Amino acid sequence: MFATRVTRLKQHLHDEGFSHAALVPGPNLRYFFGLSLHLSERPIVVILSVEDERPLLIAPSFEIGKVEASAPAFAWRVYGYRDGQPFESAFHDAARALGGTRARIAVEATRFRALEWSLLTRALPHAELVATDAPFAALRQVKDEHEIAALREAARRADEVLRALLEMLRPGMTEQQVARKLLGLILDAESEGVPFMPLVQSGPTAANPHAEAGARTLQSGDLVLLDFGLCIRGYMSDITRTIALGEPLPELRQAYEVVKAANEAACAAAKPGARAEEVDRAARAVIEQAGFGNYFTHRTGHGLGLEGHEAPYIVAGNTAPLQPGMVFTIEPGIYLPGMGGVRIEDDVVITQEGCERLTTFPRELLFLPG
Ligand code: CO
Ligand code: CO
Repeated sequence: MFATRVTRLKQHLHDEGFSHAALVPGPNLRYFFGLSLHLSERPIVVILSVEDERPLLIAPSFEIGKVEASAPAFAWRVYGYRDGQPFESAFHDAARALGGTRARIAVEATRFRALEWSLLTRALPHAELVATDAPFAALRQVKDEHEIAALREAARRADEVLRALLEMLRPGMTEQQVARKLLGLILDAESEGVPFMPLVQSGPTAANPHAEAGARTLQSGDLVLLDFGLCIRGYMSDITRTIALGEPLPELRQAYEVVKAANEAACAAAKPGARAEEVDRAARAVIEQAGFGNYFTHRTGHGLGLEGHEAPYIVAGNTAPLQPGMVFTIEPGIYLPGMGGVRIEDDVVITQEGCERLTTFPRELLFLPG
């Protein structure tokens, strides 16, 4: 499987005019090579050559055996360094092995650090380093059946966790107390860690789309916004529901119905061949027509996979057509300063016909006793 993915990546790099790709520990190394390594102060760089079967590995000497054992499908050319030695000599030896001075290298734009960038630049002074995530994202954004199965399971368990949490939610609890319950339920559902800190926002604090859970006590009349995810076999889910404690202000009830309609319009627009930005437009049009356009302050969604935010981004300007196997969130929101906020976020997969929701928790406003 990993060899096939690397072959496809090489083809893609070649088509985009690249001779090499350089990667550091993170989701791309995991996806293409099956390597789960940590980014640390000791640099690790994999250089893939379009023309050569043998990827280069620059790493601490003590890590090399682990890499070779966990990615046996590849004939690694290894350049180790010991603690106390400068990193430069390993990078220079690897550069010499690359030979060609006219390399054009695709470098992971959102992963590479100044540390690796400067070491590579000094080792390959005549190479052109291009910061881009596109060749990697182009392949990762279309999921295979095993990836979709993991994403589906992560979403199913998110639905279950939400159901269990709502059994416990009471006015008088603080946002932080709810967040701790949520963390416990996520881990009890055998999530691999917590993909991101759950958001629990009540009343006016929900007017800020990404505020952390705070000391505020849940009160009657609040809308409570809950946003969290799980990680199953490396793949993330991400769900938001907004529930009512007692009867909310009429403006918030109206905002809720508009957000729900926007979520449904976006889902209806999501199908093979539709452009990503058309899904954003579908959600935004509903909110604008209801007069809340200024209060929907973020994009409609983001891809899900080995990362909680990845391609495809459901945003104005992304004209890429949707393809079967793409998985992303649909999460319109309305945030009314001083009053509260509403967001309804689902995870969906593009199918041959349209889109299927992976999160299926009801979207109707749920009233808990206030
Ligand atoms: Co979310
Ligand atoms: Co999200």
